[in-house]
Amino acid sequence: MIRCVSCGAEYDDDEVIYTCEKCGSVLELVSDIDVSKDIFDGRRDTLWKFKECIPVDESKIVSLDEGGTPFCKCDKLGDELGVNLYVKVEGSNPTGSFKDRGMTVGMTKAMELEVSTVGCASTGNTSASLAAYAARAGLRCIVFLPSGKVALGKLAQAMFHGAEVMSINGNFDEALEAMTALALEKHLYLLNSINPYRLEGQKTIGYEILRDLGWQSPDRIILPVGNAGNISAIWKGVSEFYNAGFVKDLPMMTGIQAEGACPVTNAFRKGDRRVVPVENPETIATAIRIGAPVSDIKALNAIYDSNGYSETVSDEEILDAQKLLARTEGIGVEPASAASIAGLKKLVDQGVIDKGETITCVVTGHLLKDPNTAIDACTKPTEVDADIDTLRKLLMNK
Ligand code: F0G
Repeated sequence: MIRCVSCGAEYDDDEVIYTCEKCGSVLELVSDIDVSKDIFDGRRDTLWKFKECIPVDESKIVSLDEGGTPFCKCDKLGDELGVNLYVKVEGSNPTGSFKDRGMTVGMTKAMELEVSTVGCASTGNTSASLAAYAARAGLRCIVFLPSGKVALGKLAQAMFHGAEVMSINGNFDEALEAMTALALEKHLYLLNSINPYRLEGQKTIGYEILRDLGWQSPDRIILPVGNAGNISAIWKGVSEFYNAGFVKDLPMMTGIQAEGACPVTNAFRKGDRRVVPVENPETIATAIRIGAPVSDIKALNAIYDSNGYSETVSDEEILDAQKLLARTEGIGVEPASAASIAGLKKLVDQGVIDKGETITCVVTGHLLKDPNTAIDACTKPTEVDADIDTLRKLLMNK
């Protein structure tokens, strides 16, 4: 069953519907978990190991073996900050971001509904993922990208997998508004995170964190927030497993935004459950360059209900954290993902995070998604002939 998160109106699972027809709010799938957690043991570690908890037709699955991502204990960085730190590395998914979790489920629903065309607006990763899954499903794929603001790796993926790419003169929020209007006219099936089936896939990040910790909850999950789907999805996942009795506690959901694109943090500071859109969002973390997040209600509910928090970080803090994670722990992430690490550092400094807390930072996309920003942050390689004497001298003088 699909249910409106605001007025509780109910819709059939097979209705193609993105927002509530009665009140206009966002929708969610209602799923009851009536299995024992032991049934997941011994299955291949993809998100479909949780198939009983994902409300789609198993015979229609479109998958690239997503999920089951690394859960790295980061003692060097954790010790430096005085916390017990684990990093969930979502860049290890097939197209290099967590979007693949949502897309495998969304594309499976598209096959069930027998649609022929799928579409999304994107800051990059959603389009890369959609293009790959549409190719695997054999469907036509249309993506709208904000012109000049999509990192190179993501653009390459969307184009190479054969999506019809429109470079929109406008920002992500404007591109999404246009794409949604076309979906409502039924030209295509919308696979942005306003589609509740996307979040059914992404909730498995929450499932896996609890499983990875030996069926315990961390004190806190920290992640970057853009369109606000992922924080909502992870909260749904951990809540479902908590309600099923698989764990005894719930984590504090902690959403980090870039200073120049922070409508959710602004709302949190005022105690509101809806955002006031930021007109001209700007940040080097282009993945989260979003001013009017569609899942604002769900995200703010998750933060309040979990006794969580929201904070902003500057572009400089993001780039410093990106380098810190890469150089102390060997984990390469794109700028938006580093917002979670930058946020952790800031909240420890502010005393919001207590020493000794067990923290999971979700890092959402791979370093190679945005090679230009990575190269700009480094000194250029030294150009030198392949002469052993010269090379020896250079190396010894360092
Ligand atoms: N991190 C990365 C790497 C992302 O690509 C995104 C969103 C987020 C974090 C934020 O997640 O929107 O669920 O709050 N990227 C979308 C896209 C908007 O089009 O690829 P969110």
